[in-house]
Amino acid sequence: MTIVNIHDLRRAARRRLPRFLFDYVDGAAYDEKTMRWNEEAYDRVRFRHRVLNDMSERRLGTSVLGAEQALPLVLAPTGFAGLLWPRGEIAAARAAEAAGIPFCLSTASICSIEDVRAATKAPFWFQLYVTKDRGITEELVARADAAGCSALVLTVDIAMRANRERDVRNRFVARGAIGLSSWLEMVLHPSWSLAMLRAPRAQFGNLASVPAAGSGIMSQGEFVARNMDFSLNWKDLDWIRSRWKRKLIVKGVVAPEDAARVADAGADALVVSNHGGRQLDGDMPTIAALPAVIEKVGGRLEVLLDSGIRRGQSVVKALALGAKACLIGRAFLYGLAAAGEKGVAQAIDILKSEIDTTIAHIGISDVRELEKRRSEFLIGP
Ligand SMILES: Cc1cc2nc3c(=O)[nH]c(=O)nc-3n(C[C@H](O)[C@H](O)[C@H](O)COP(=O)(O)O)c2cc1C
Repeated sequence: MTIVNIHDLRRAARRRLPRFLFDYVDGAAYDEKTMRWNEEAYDRVRFRHRVLNDMSERRLGTSVLGAEQALPLVLAPTGFAGLLWPRGEIAAARAAEAAGIPFCLSTASICSIEDVRAATKAPFWFQLYVTKDRGITEELVARADAAGCSALVLTVDIAMRANRERDVRNRFVARGAIGLSSWLEMVLHPSWSLAMLRAPRAQFGNLASVPAAGSGIMSQGEFVARNMDFSLNWKDLDWIRSRWKRKLIVKGVVAPEDAARVADAGADALVVSNHGGRQLDGDMPTIAALPAVIEKVGGRLEVLLDSGIRRGQSVVKALALGAKACLIGRAFLYGLAAAGEKGVAQAIDILKSEIDTTIAHIGISDVRELEKRRSEFLIGP
């Protein structure tokens, strides 16, 4: 099939993956309203294009936390990417490296911190979920440090896990046993199944050294579900800040008051994020939350944004409203599921080309100039 945009990559992913995995990536919490709103809310921000500004040379590079990158994009942390494609996290990290953008590894990845370190050269970011057993958290932080991770991303919008109803129906949940229909789905998707049969046994790579978690994805999944620390609070942020000396990013903020406390705690950046609508259904779309966050903390720390990015046009709008860069989740996962490293590279390329064309059309040749030209953007009701 011809791939023109991220929506096409999504269709390609749907074809290749068994249903329970496609739904895991594509789905969100409850009625999936916030996931839809995240994307639709960009329609309320409109361009007002300018003309005759010599657009023959355009600059898409920017700097995030002091490091130059080729595009204002980051691959968001996503659990289980290694179930979509053999060694999927490495495939994604390599595509990010080739494109000159950061890759963020999730705590819940299949490949471990050390696997990704060994397979790539560029420093990557590590996303942290805090467990009740703080010994495990401390060990993960120490491993990220030893691997030279340039940033630690603390995800804070998981006070409890939401029901993702597609996953419940497909029995793709911790403690669930895969049902007959999922086995049938695997038989019906041989390209995925054969590739995974040849892959190393799937497990939570970062937990392989934790004996209490057992071995194998089912037992480790149960362990993670039992051990997520839902008492996480502001004191823990201070504790993590005191342990991690490199850049600290707090992910999952939409309220300006929280953004101010994150800045007070000494974080270097925050991500305006609602987890792609996978947690609080009914939560506001992130592009609508961004202006108030920027107003409150814009000068104090860097503000990144994710949730709902499927078009380069949306990245341009987020940058104009004050974000330094955008993280992409599903957009790259669809590419990974469809064609591995090549598919992730294609997803990045599609967004790059859309960003490039959009800035040329609006008459701003450098993405770093977007915020200064905010008045060119009309925000509707
Ligand atoms: C399949 C999937 C798994 C995810 N796993 C994690 C995770 O392990 N840690 C985390 O902080 N965020 C996780 N997220 C959220 C992403 O980091 C990001 O916030 C979200 O995907 C952005 O929305 P988008 O998918 O619309 O781009 C996950 C998202 C998806 C789609």
